[in-house]
Amino acid sequence: MTFSYKQYQQSSAYIREKIGSFIPKVAMVLGSGLGFLGDMVQDAVAISYNEIPHFKASTAPGHKGQLVFGTLEGQPVAVMQGRMHHYEGYSYDEVSYGVRVLRLLGCDTLVVTNAAGCARREWMAGDLMLITDQIKLFSPSPLRGENLCQFGPRFPDASHLYTPRLQQVARDVAAEQGTLLREGVYFYCYGPQYETPAEVRAAQLLGGDAVGMSTAPEVVVAAHCGMEVLGFTLLSNMAAGLQEHPLSEEEVLEAAASARDKFSELVLGCLSRL
Ligand code: HPA
Repeated sequence: MTFSYKQYQQSSAYIREKIGSFIPKVAMVLGSGLGFLGDMVQDAVAISYNEIPHFKASTAPGHKGQLVFGTLEGQPVAVMQGRMHHYEGYSYDEVSYGVRVLRLLGCDTLVVTNAAGCARREWMAGDLMLITDQIKLFSPSPLRGENLCQFGPRFPDASHLYTPRLQQVARDVAAEQGTLLREGVYFYCYGPQYETPAEVRAAQLLGGDAVGMSTAPEVVVAAHCGMEVLGFTLLSNMAAGLQEHPLSEEEVLEAAASARDKFSELVLGCLSRL
């Protein structure tokens, strides 16, 4: 499905009525385990995805499916509590729909978090990773189809999808907080099955450090419409082939719960400095 510019406008107009003159600056798409940051937003106005025209509901476990507007660490934010994934059956336009709507509402920065498998043998499950780049070679672009030039050009540059300046903010904050922050490339996989060990080896050979099923489409769309992007991965497990036992969703959610404090401290620390 391809959306028209008018549809994005209709969604943003609906939200505008609910939030009045509030202008969000930072859009946040929070993955497994960090959705609770949406509950910390002050003077919050929450709007369920279900009620926004053209928005789709998120069905993934641990994802609430609402937009929360308000202030977090002094920043005017729009938190997407729950993201849509391609593996749920959504097209890439649907997955990234909210980012463009938030752009229309005023956001100029996107903060994304996710949980992913660790493809680096020398790192550990539970480590945090600053995303410096991504690989999304084997799936169509969310920008496929008619280009909506109101958002950006037909052939956008992708040299710096993750904004170097914001990466430096994250390094500084992590150093101040004494948090180990790995840096690496997020390798996007369709899912929902976890990767095979051979696929993880392929990802390693191609330069991937983490393997995951989200984030990359939204980031392409955000960069296309001129947003700055900051992304973090919780390496919730060693990727397939790098650990003995089979991967499970429970393991991912448990890792997300254990990392919750240091992960949220890092993200909140960055937020005040964006
Ligand atoms: N692979 C893909 N996605 C994931 C993983 C993984 O190992 N862990 C959490 N999300």
